Amino acid sequence: MDKLVILFAVALSLGKASAATLGVVQTEGGRVQGQNIPIGLSRSVDVFKGIPFAAKPEILEKPKPHPGWSGVLQATKFADMCMQINTEQNGSSGSEDCLYLNIWVPHGRQVSSNLPVMIWLYGGGFISGDTVGAVFQDNFLYDGQEIADRGNVIVVSVGYRVGTLGFLSTGDSDLPGNYGLWDQHASIAWVHRNIRAFGGDPESITLFGESAGGASVSFQSLSPYNKGLVRRAISQSGVAFCPWALSRNPHKIAVQVAEKVGCPTDHRMVACLKSTDAENLTIAALPLELASPDHPNMMSMLYTPVVDGDFLPDQPANLFHNAADIDYLVGVNDFDGHIFTVRDMSLGDKNKETPVENVRRLLAAYVKASGLSGSEIAFAEYTSTWGPSPSQDTIKKTAVDISTDSGFLVPAQKSLSLHADNARSGRTFSYLLTEPNLLGGPDKPFHEWLGADHTDDLQYVFGKPFVTPKAYGDRHRDLSTFMIAYWTNFARTGNPNYGNLKVPVFWPEFTSSGKQFMEINAKMNEGSVGQEMRLRFVRLWTSILPSLQSDGVTNAQ
Ligand SMILES: *[C@@H]1O[C@H](CO)[C@@H](O)[C@H](O)[C@H]1NC(C)=O
Ligand SMILES: *[C@@H]1O[C@H](CO)[C@@H](O)[C@H](O)[C@H]1NC(C)=O
Repeated sequence: MDKLVILFAVALSLGKASAATLGVVQTEGGRVQGQNIPIGLSRSVDVFKGIPFAAKPEILEKPKPHPGWSGVLQATKFADMCMQINTEQNGSSGSEDCLYLNIWVPHGRQVSSNLPVMIWLYGGGFISGDTVGAVFQDNFLYDGQEIADRGNVIVVSVGYRVGTLGFLSTGDSDLPGNYGLWDQHASIAWVHRNIRAFGGDPESITLFGESAGGASVSFQSLSPYNKGLVRRAISQSGVAFCPWALSRNPHKIAVQVAEKVGCPTDHRMVACLKSTDAENLTIAALPLELASPDHPNMMSMLYTPVVDGDFLPDQPANLFHNAADIDYLVGVNDFDGHIFTVRDMSLGDKNKETPVENVRRLLAAYVKASGLSGSEIAFAEYTSTWGPSPSQDTIKKTAVDISTDSGFLVPAQKSLSLHADNARSGRTFSYLLTEPNLLGGPDKPFHEWLGADHTDDLQYVFGKPFVTPKAYGDRHRDLSTFMIAYWTNFARTGNPNYGNLKVPVFWPEFTSSGKQFMEINAKMNEGSVGQEMRLRFVRLWTSILPSLQSDGVTNAQ
């Protein structure tokens, strides 16, 4: 007993004596100092908040380098979020001065060096979002500490412009758009130039992001501008092919915004927009369109990336040679479409009947470009197992499947196939998260058949079951352990199976012939490896429906 106490005391003093920290770090803009957070006896994390990676941006212009500062910047406070519509949707919040990043660096007894680096791109439909994420009690969703500590990687989260300020475009060189994507690229280049001073390996940068952040990861990996900067990429529930990710008629939207802010719509329009006050430009996105089965929420995202002939020199399908040496891990949640379908047809109310007609209307809205025949073929496919009198559960689940497939799952499969087909050294991995949502069940708000809803992956990747243990069970801590292991192993080696952390099941590579994927949940085992995810529906959306379109463009908005 005494021995143990003495050992403990020795360990404690050793831990204290060797508390490793970077202290003041020299960056290209000047010196920065963060905060050292001790974890247990012999580990700690240095956290740097609010380091500028570019100057305050001019309205509707690309980001420019930061002029730098003298003295030591105290990097202990998050910067303002980029200006966006407020939660009440009656004004704006945030700031134009928002191009800042945050860094988490884990240490053992020694100060770290040459660690893999993971850069987080937040979601929010390209119209909202920030590096902090949802805040509960004394913690926040996008805290990089758990990933950094458990995976022994550096985590960086970056701000980028959203909404009109981030993505307004005339679809030509007058106002090319993609300002938010240029911001992301500027942050990636900054990390590549500066992360060695923080103990990172600039040749081992992994991008990861969810929803619009996942689509951003996809765009960044396809752009020629990131060649040699990005080694690996993880897209969670969002890729370039998502029907909501790419704007196909930006000029029309730019004219509408110009009219709202009182700008002429002729040759003077762009100069006028650029001299418009940022708040007025931001709130010109209001009111947001109300969702209905005929106007699905997912399809009403107006301020998104465009093929600008520069950052994206061509349609995404023709850019995969730029990602040929990038390892790519892509996945979706099995009920990613649920939260959107809830908005489109009041699916949240368990007692409310969903008429079959609403499923027809929703499907027709998604396959609009393929016309009436496309809509009928798709309806027959989705209802082929219904039988003569489908239950309400069957009808509602089908509506969610339609949204999940068209909005997330099928676009992800298309990205995976194109990545694998074009890869040189780059590996390809696919997953499907199937962990049931915490709010599904007989005495809970949502139906008991609900699997993993959109954004459910975030809490496990960011280790929330460990941070707020009372809100979760042991199974959720298992799942969080699995996901952090796969994600950080992938960041370290390009293969989720190998790295510092043990994984529960071997995850095979996705190949064009086998289309292997890993079904991820708390109870995963050898049977969790699947092939050809929802192949029937992938064929429907990627081959049968496009063949019926006059312009041959999949999922045109
Ligand atoms: C927005 O709505 C909130 C809540 O209804 C209200 O308190 C606030 O004053 C409103 N802000 C503006 C700018 O109208
Ligand atoms: C914003 O728009 C309103 C209404 O058009 C206008 O009165 C106001 O001057 C504008 N604000 C700025 C700072 O330009």
